[in-house]
Amino acid sequence: MVFCCRCDSVIKPKFHHILMEIVISHNIKPIDPARPTFIGEVSGIDLTRHLSDAEVAAVHAGMDRFGVLVFHDQHLDDEQQIAFSRQLGQLEEATGDIMSEKDRRLSMELNDISNLDKYGELLPRDDRRRLFGLGNLLWHSDSSFKDVPAKYSLLSARKIPSTGGNTEFADMRAAYDALDDAAKAEVHDLICSHSQIFSRGILGFDDFTEAERAKWAPVRQRLVRRHPNTGRLSLYLASHAGGIEGWPMPEARSFLRDLNEHATQRQFVYAHVWRPWDLVIWDNRVTMHRARRYDPKEVRDMRRTTLSNEVSSLEQWAI
Ligand code: OGA
Ligand code: MN
Repeated sequence: MVFCCRCDSVIKPKFHHILMEIVISHNIKPIDPARPTFIGEVSGIDLTRHLSDAEVAAVHAGMDRFGVLVFHDQHLDDEQQIAFSRQLGQLEEATGDIMSEKDRRLSMELNDISNLDKYGELLPRDDRRRLFGLGNLLWHSDSSFKDVPAKYSLLSARKIPSTGGNTEFADMRAAYDALDDAAKAEVHDLICSHSQIFSRGILGFDDFTEAERAKWAPVRQRLVRRHPNTGRLSLYLASHAGGIEGWPMPEARSFLRDLNEHATQRQFVYAHVWRPWDLVIWDNRVTMHRARRYDPKEVRDMRRTTLSNEVSSLEQWAI
């Protein structure tokens, strides 16, 4: 059953895409004129309340169109953020950090992307949890180190530093499209191994327990994946990718470095300058992102809910 985006009355499916077009063009505008197909800025929606089916469909349609959506002035508390995220799909548990249960500030539905301990105090500069969290400064796609990786990430800015701490997004569809035919053929069927041990290794962090090493044994992901709704291909890269199946290690790592360099050229990248109470949603299947540095003596309180992709990238074959 398809409902009208405005009044929720039942409409014929063949008109649905036309109405979606109207909603998107009316309520979602490209934020960056230089990249009109990347990053939509959404207006006229209050995410603190239960959304209609039509509004949920419009958010998904906007995500398919842009890959990243920015919502301003969304005064969400944790419960509201979780409820809104659940309306979009299946939540992933926040098992990607090194926070022990007793040290957690937030519930298991929320990734704590802050520099705070559970009492709300700043983490010391050399705290192991902070150093592990600095992995977010490297280009990545969330949870690519899990067998079933992330679909959408939803990051809510509760408190931001006075300067720095932007988040940058790279469009991996555009990066794929810009490869020449020989490069497209070369990457088409490659499988990479992803682990948080690899990404932290880049930063010289190897302070892992045996249990963490076992938990983050490498997983396999396709290097090229096809978006199930749009059919577009994208490069599925992340700093967690530390090898290519069947390739000698130095050749794999140098090739992945080249691809990352290609994919994060300025023309593919948007830098988000946060305002308090922004909510940004990105599709991890078609983007990479990274945090930028900020003063560790200032509070940055960001909270992330994450939707599971439900299937491995291996099941999203690039035809
Ligand atoms: C994340 C992340 C970047 C940032 O929440 O997954 O990588 O700028 N955040 O905090
Ligand atoms: Mn991330």
